[in-house]
Amino acid sequence: MRDILPPESGRWRRFTDVFADVVERAGYGQLITPLLEDLGVFTRIGDATDVVTKEMYDFVDKGDRHIALRPEMTASVCRAFAEHRPTTPWKVFYSGSNFRYEKPQRGRYRQFDQVGIEVLGADDPNLDVEIIALAWEFYARLGLRQVKLIVNSLGEPDDRSRYVEALRTHLVAAGDGLSEQSRTTLERNPLRVLDSKREADQPHIAAAPQISDFHSDEAAAHFQAVLAGLRALDIPFAIEPKLVRGLDYYRRTIFEFQGGTLDSAQNALGGGGRYDGLVEALGGPATPGVGFALGVDRTLLACDDEGVFSAEPVVLDAFVVDVTGGIQASAITAELRAAGFAVDRGYDNRSMKAQMKLANRSGARFALIVGDDELAAGTVVVKPMQGGGEQLAVARSEISAHLATELATRLRQN
Ligand code: HAM
Repeated sequence: MRDILPPESGRWRRFTDVFADVVERAGYGQLITPLLEDLGVFTRIGDATDVVTKEMYDFVDKGDRHIALRPEMTASVCRAFAEHRPTTPWKVFYSGSNFRYEKPQRGRYRQFDQVGIEVLGADDPNLDVEIIALAWEFYARLGLRQVKLIVNSLGEPDDRSRYVEALRTHLVAAGDGLSEQSRTTLERNPLRVLDSKREADQPHIAAAPQISDFHSDEAAAHFQAVLAGLRALDIPFAIEPKLVRGLDYYRRTIFEFQGGTLDSAQNALGGGGRYDGLVEALGGPATPGVGFALGVDRTLLACDDEGVFSAEPVVLDAFVVDVTGGIQASAITAELRAAGFAVDRGYDNRSMKAQMKLANRSGARFALIVGDDELAAGTVVVKPMQGGGEQLAVARSEISAHLATELATRLRQN
């Protein structure tokens, strides 16, 4: 778990602001759910999922309830839907922290943030296309160019079950040829073996049956409609028949966004898919659902690697240097901040030299200096700190108007 300090924290806020801007204009409203849920909300995600069986922060609270810190947000959204029964299609977005007891490394943390969207109550393949297009637009807004979209379909639940059995048979036949790890995974969830990066497993994975051969006509038609929609929007994608994703609730469309620069184990910047059936499992009516979540931590690492969407410290318009005790600085900063300027000041009545050093370090465009002479004359000395220009004394009552004119002039010159 990490601390996020300024100016990096400002970048996190801008990240969620940009995301909210993209999805709110597509009709998504923000849903805020608790960080803690009844453990049962998450165990419904599936008992063959590491996220649920191994990685959950769960505990018994003082009221003897078995609860867990959320490892992801889709289950919470479905729980909220089952509880409030809003009209459909219900289009929501979220942002916040999730907790998984994983082995920490670059791009993998025990507390990490996600932004995401979910739509409940519509089956339309155009919706799968819409959400992918929104993620695509978001990446473009961040400036990322190396993101790859991979898609697959897990078919209907029956297709998926038949496939899992065929895959199990194929992998069991490999016997000791499989890595020890994969032999254990195979017992719990054959699909996850397809994710293995181990050398020994690769020939068996390459020769494994493909899910597309098990698609019902209905599932195949839904998938083809999604692909046609992506082509119509010129969104480049690759079909990855071995893509299975780590959560058990998926049916039909699944997809992942991969970064071009991170280690392959951490290169999934985000992912999602359909999970028709999850709302029912949480006590609601049968309701189709589709959505995705994007990892904030990882996406920002990808931004660093691509040199885009960098952290920007707040640019100050002015820094007030008051060597008459500090009351003048209080009055001037309050007045200028209320007028919309970004203004900081020195404290502790430090010397002119010390405060000027601070003004310099702050990166402010102007220093506004008040000494005994200025106080007596009712003026403030305005000293340009960036980009040259003369310093001059300005009447105290004119300071806001003067600053506005000077900043506008500089803006024009740039
Ligand atoms: P997920 O693939 O488990 O899906 O997580 C989505 C993204 O969260 C990942 O691609 C990754 O960027 C980020 N992430 C996951 N675990 C970590 C970690 N330990 N450290 C840093 N980042 C991490 C879900 O969570 C689904 N709820 C997505 C979804 C929404 N499906 C349908 N709707």
